[in-house]
Amino acid sequence: MSMWQPVRGPFPATRMRRLRRYAWSRSMVEEHRLDVANLIWPVFLIEGARQREPIGAMPGVERITIDLAVDAAVDAVQLGIPAMALFPKTPIHLKSESAEESCNQNNLVCRALRAIRDRVGDSLGLLADVALDPYTSHGHDGLMVDGQIVNDPTVEVLCRQAIVQAEAGATVLAPSDMMDGRIGAIRRALDESGFTDALIMSYAAKYASAFYGPFREAVGSASALGKGDKKTYQMNPANGKEALHEAALDLEEGADWVMVKPGMPYLDIVSQLAQSLQVPVAAYQVSGEYAMLQGAIDHGWLAEKAAILESLLCFRRAGATSILTYFAPRAARWLNG
Ligand code: PBG
Repeated sequence: MSMWQPVRGPFPATRMRRLRRYAWSRSMVEEHRLDVANLIWPVFLIEGARQREPIGAMPGVERITIDLAVDAAVDAVQLGIPAMALFPKTPIHLKSESAEESCNQNNLVCRALRAIRDRVGDSLGLLADVALDPYTSHGHDGLMVDGQIVNDPTVEVLCRQAIVQAEAGATVLAPSDMMDGRIGAIRRALDESGFTDALIMSYAAKYASAFYGPFREAVGSASALGKGDKKTYQMNPANGKEALHEAALDLEEGADWVMVKPGMPYLDIVSQLAQSLQVPVAAYQVSGEYAMLQGAIDHGWLAEKAAILESLLCFRRAGATSILTYFAPRAARWLNG
């Protein structure tokens, strides 16, 4: 006996393909669009002059010295990329148990912030990551006491770090450390120091993810962290509702917008936050996502432009207003046509 049933109902009066027939009609009815205005470009910094270093697990991405980062910032402005996020690879001799270098107003990231700000003024947003992992000898985002990452003492250091970064010219402070209560504390500290206009983009739903591996190689925290993991402060990938709780707390504490990270495996979270919150939602297409896409592209298994632009468009469909992506300059060139 055949399972086939004659189709009843609107067919063929309803033909979904009619609107897909022409380029103009497809374009006219499309619900979401990717724009350069949505992109944030993460950049890795090293000490030195006129130097670039490849990153093994991120083919096509390089660590660059401050002078080249200034050039990159000028490129970003010309491409219409609205903001850059800076991540320092701290020389190993400057790392310590208590991450003193994080609050040094002449550390790598602060010097880069000043140099870029001097050159491009307010035409580019500058994000600074607030977290201790580039500076700790153990590679964790917080201070460690008896093998535990201690919350409240870490928050005190984060407040000082945020102020130093704001003084150096950061427009957006982006706490990525996942300590409890840090958004409120950082907001108060910024306000008391006169930085009432400094924005806070909280990494609100940041998961303890395997997809940060290449980033940790890029900033040199992988070897410090060793076999350690960040599960006592970053979120369990099994949890969804908890992301809403995290985001709600961060907003109550004064975050201007909230981020979900990683991106592509967590688009359900982006979508839930975008639908249930009254603030813009950002998403981070992290280093492991870059590595997957670029690795497949380099093997000829995926079509470069189509795959990258689709991956970014889908963030928009899920509801993200801001997308941190290492593909930013490439995508901007394509989008600018
Ligand atoms: C550090 C930080 C990480 C990333 C951004 N800020 C890594 C981590 O938490 O271990 C990951 C970004 C990426 O993978 O592209 N607090």
